[in-house]
Formats: sequence, structure tokens, C-alpha cells
Amino acid sequence: MTRNYSLSPEPLRVLAPAKINLHLEILGSRSDGFHELAMVMQSIDLKDEIEFRHIDGNQIILRCDDNTLSVGSDNLIIKAAKLMQREERLDGNGIEIYLKKRIPIGAGLAGGSSDAAAVLIGLNSFWDLHLQNNVLLDYAAILGSDVPFCVKGGTQLCFGRGEKLEPLDVDNSSMAIVLVKDPNVSVSTPLAYKTYKELNGSNYINSEAGFELRRQELRNASWLKFDRDTHFPLRNDLQKVVSPITPAVQNALNVLSELPEALSVAMSGSGPSCFALFSNLERARAARQDHLKSFSEFGLKSWCCSLRVDGAKIESD
Ligand code: C5P
Repeated sequence: MTRNYSLSPEPLRVLAPAKINLHLEILGSRSDGFHELAMVMQSIDLKDEIEFRHIDGNQIILRCDDNTLSVGSDNLIIKAAKLMQREERLDGNGIEIYLKKRIPIGAGLAGGSSDAAAVLIGLNSFWDLHLQNNVLLDYAAILGSDVPFCVKGGTQLCFGRGEKLEPLDVDNSSMAIVLVKDPNVSVSTPLAYKTYKELNGSNYINSEAGFELRRQELRNASWLKFDRDTHFPLRNDLQKVVSPITPAVQNALNVLSELPEALSVAMSGSGPSCFALFSNLERARAARQDHLKSFSEFGLKSWCCSLRVDGAKIESD
């Protein structure tokens, strides 16, 4: 049986913000082949834009202003739209999706995951489905480990393989980052995790009680209060294996470490993008402006972004 939905006559635009990892800790292995993680993820103000238009038939067509990105069935946008079409048993709901790609691809910034999250949120509204948040989060977890975070966004503790979210009630929206990435370098996420396991697997925690102990330590970490003048011990376990074999990451971390008033520097996700954290946007802007020459000497593209309190979001006028 197919399901009724109403057609939205107007195109709909959704913003899909990138994320960084303020903490990425690998706790152990899981029986599903993934890693058990303890993370703090943070949405940032660097966003893709996605527009939806109805077309006749059932087809889902993706167009993108960046022709280096696949617009085929391997793109998470298509996967997300097809998942909703199939699970909600829709018919005659063809759609054309326009993606303005602003988040660098293969960067450890969850660009693809955030696009998928934006599709779930956008189509829920565009197709008038009224799906509850928990249903969207279940769909998100099918699409990828980072997609649930991208649906909710803001500042969240992320456990399990990344899909178990615990929001952190903090106000860090005045903070900002300088983000850098070599546009010619990308990192394979599965390879980064595999290498980490080869080198560190013998030290993995191997009980649920052990995992929970680490989760609790992170929940209680004083730096997660984001008070002024706090020391920010950013941690990314994948950085330990990606940095030594990726000169672009070493260069990025070295240049960022020189920025005046940076609170801390780290790689995001499986890299290669890296960031320096600042107490406010003015300081981040000034530091970036002063170091534009150094960034370009190392072939690094740079951005200045504030921290966001939300994830993928329908654009309101
Ligand atoms: O879930 P996602 O598609 O983002 O994961 C990409 C790859 O990263 C997985 O195929 C796996 O190799 C690795 N991964 C992992 N443990 C996680 C998340 C990702 O091993 N918790």
C-alpha cells in the first residue's frame, strides 16, 4: 500500500552544517565490526545548502555545483531520499535535489553525513510526513555513524558507534575555530580505524563496564563546561595514526599551533582537516588574517567559523 502525502508547491531549502570532533576516543571493538567510541561532536558554521523541487514520476535526481562529487546512487543524499521513499512507501514523489557544496569533501567534517541529515529533515517537511524525531534518528543511524549527530547538532556526547547522543547543555556559541585543509588530500576513514586497531587493539577496553566507566569520566570532564579560561585538552585518537603518515596534517597542526591566543588544536574526525579553537570569533578572524600567507605556503585552505547550537535546519526567510 502506498502512502498519501501532500505536495509542497514551493522549493524548500535546508542548511547542512559541518561538524568537528572536540574529542574522539576509541574505546574498543564491537561485534558489528565498528569501533566503540566516546566523542564530543560540535556543529560549526560552515554549511552546504540543499534545495528540493518536486518533479513528476518517482525519480530522485541530484545536481551539485561541485562536479568532483558523485551524484549517483553512492551519494548519501540519494541513499537518504530512497530510504525515506521506501520506508514510507511513497509513490509519485519524484524530486530534484540541488546541492551547493561548501563543506570540503573527504575532510573529516561530516559533509556527506550532514547532507543526508538535511535530506531526512527536508523531505519530512517537503513530503508532509510528520515523522517524529526518533524515527528520523533511526533512519539516520542506518545511513552512517555520524548522521544522527548531524540531525540534532549543537554540542553532543556521542557514544556507541557514534549514534548514541547525549546533548551537552552548554553555551559555547560565542567560541570559534580556524579550520584548515589541504584541498588535494583526503583520508580513508576505514583505513584510519583499521590502522589504529592494528597498532592499539591489544590495549582496547573489552567490557561494557569498562566502556561505561570512560563514558562517565567524559560526562564529568570539567572542560566540557566551556567556562572561560578553561584548558581544552582536545583529543583525537585517529590523529595519532593519521598525522605521522599525512604531511598535510602535520603541517596543518604545526601552523595552527603558532596562532596567537588559540586555546587548543586538533584534527577533526579521520582528517585531514584540522582546527584551532578560540574563545571568540574576533580572535579567530584576526589569527587567520595574520597567517593567511603561512596557510597558503603550506597549500592549506582556511576558514573561520563560529560554533553552532543546532544541526541540519530548514532555512527560514
Ligand atoms: O558509519 P560510517 O559509514 O561513517 O563509517 C565509515 C567507516 O569508518 C566504517 O566502515 C568503519 O570502517 C569506520 N568506523 C568504525 N567505527 C565507528 C565508525 C566508523 O570502525 N564507530
